[in-house]
Amino acid sequence: MDTEALFQAARNAMDRAYAPYSRFPVGAALRTETGAIHAGCNIENASYPEGWCAETTALGHMIMAGGGKVAEIAVVAEKMPKIMPCGGCRQRLAEFVTADARLHLCDIGGVVETVPFATVFPRAFDLEANR
Ligand code: THU
Repeated sequence: MDTEALFQAARNAMDRAYAPYSRFPVGAALRTETGAIHAGCNIENASYPEGWCAETTALGHMIMAGGGKVAEIAVVAEKMPKIMPCGGCRQRLAEFVTADARLHLCDIGGVVETVPFATVFPRAFDLEANR
């Protein structure tokens, strides 16, 4: 898989961040099983808790484009090498990931580490798990 294209989608999304309050732009990009890439940026709000993360914007784009299963995730923030998705976004991503989905941790130059998504969100809340 071409992680460079996924990274570039996240990097370009970061340039669209609306982050006037934190001044912490973030970009995220998802690749579905079919190869489609969906990207997003963080979108903040004057009422601070109403803002949301780049990963959540990317998921919205994926769903509006027809949905799918997430096979790869890349996240980039110019001010934080190897930024990790927040807990809330890990839960949102968990809803749509494949069993072997990979999370790419990036710096401003590209992917620097790749980990299985399952290792960063073990024992997720899942309504199906105990049925
Ligand atoms: N943020 C993201 O967009 N993704 C993350 O993985 C962590 C944090 C955003 C939320 C907020 O707009 C800014 O980064 C500072 O927390």
